[in-house]
Amino acid sequence: MRAMRAERFSGYEGLKLVDLQKPAVSDGKVLLRMTAAGVTPLDHTILSGQFPLAKAPLILGGEGAGVVEEGGGTDFPVGSRVMFTGPYGVFEDGAYSEWLAVRKESLCPIPEGVDNVSAAGIPVAYLTAQMALALAGFQAGKTVLAPAIGGSVGNAVTQLARALGAKHAISSTTNHAKAEQARALGALALDGSLTTLGYAASRTATIDVTNLIWQRANIKSFILFARPQAAWAEAWNTIVALLQSGAIKPIVAKTFPLAETADALRYLVEGRPFGRVVLTI
Ligand SMILES: NC(=O)c1ccc[n+]([C@@H]2O[C@H](COP(=O)([O-])OP(=O)(O)OC[C@H]3O[C@@H](n4cnc5c(N)ncnc54)[C@H](OP(=O)(O)O)[C@@H]3O)[C@@H](O)[C@H]2O)c1
Repeated sequence: MRAMRAERFSGYEGLKLVDLQKPAVSDGKVLLRMTAAGVTPLDHTILSGQFPLAKAPLILGGEGAGVVEEGGGTDFPVGSRVMFTGPYGVFEDGAYSEWLAVRKESLCPIPEGVDNVSAAGIPVAYLTAQMALALAGFQAGKTVLAPAIGGSVGNAVTQLARALGAKHAISSTTNHAKAEQARALGALALDGSLTTLGYAASRTATIDVTNLIWQRANIKSFILFARPQAAWAEAWNTIVALLQSGAIKPIVAKTFPLAETADALRYLVEGRPFGRVVLTI
């Protein structure tokens, strides 16, 4: 089978299209014939050598969509369409591949009406968005600010908050005028909660702590893969129901074939598209 593997974590030139043996199903895993893989900033972080826990050579790709070929039992019958995320492409081989063996707990059936390419870009952004909202204590009637409307997470938080009854669901772009507009709409009210989970605009920041004190605000961190299983199940339930009703719509910016993975990653990081970049497999 063809797979896009990082031979070393040295940037785009470390990627190589390789021919490998199809994985065997073992340890209760489910064999998927991959249809599409989401391209995320974490893939770029790993490829750039900025995630020391990952070890090369490694097939990248933390999320994707596929068709069950074997091992799904009655929960995921042969031929059913599924989407997934998990430790793939980080601690073990990932989704940039024609076949992948995936744990059952990583899988979610793709709702009817959601195509494979859109589904491949749903798991990381929408699970992160939904669980981060829950962690922040979001309820209907609250105001949410999710920076970067064109970013997958920023867009998913904004869509989910709106669909779940936010008073205001505010976002921003690197366009200064829009950021001012977001502030004028009421970002940083009393008792606010700031969840920090990404580093698109770099890793260090300076804050005036009295802004937190006077506003009775708090800051939290978030790691998708560290959230408990119950939080995953709850988030998937919410997301699937909203996908089925059409209240949220995943946005795909552009697709690339597997062989052009380096171009896809460059487009995501340097092109700053509106929506998810997806590899078709
Ligand atoms: N902790 C976790 O578990 C977790 C889970 C998922 C994602 N993440 C992280 O969250 C971040 C966002 O993920 P994503 O999938 O939404 O990424 P994405 O689709 O690439 O979006 C990132 C957005 O950030 C904005 N941006 C980029 N560079 C910027 C800069 N220098 N200054 C200000 N804004 C800038 C851009 O929007 P505009 O050009 O429109 O402003 C861009 O569209 C990434 O760092 C990712 O690794 C963390």
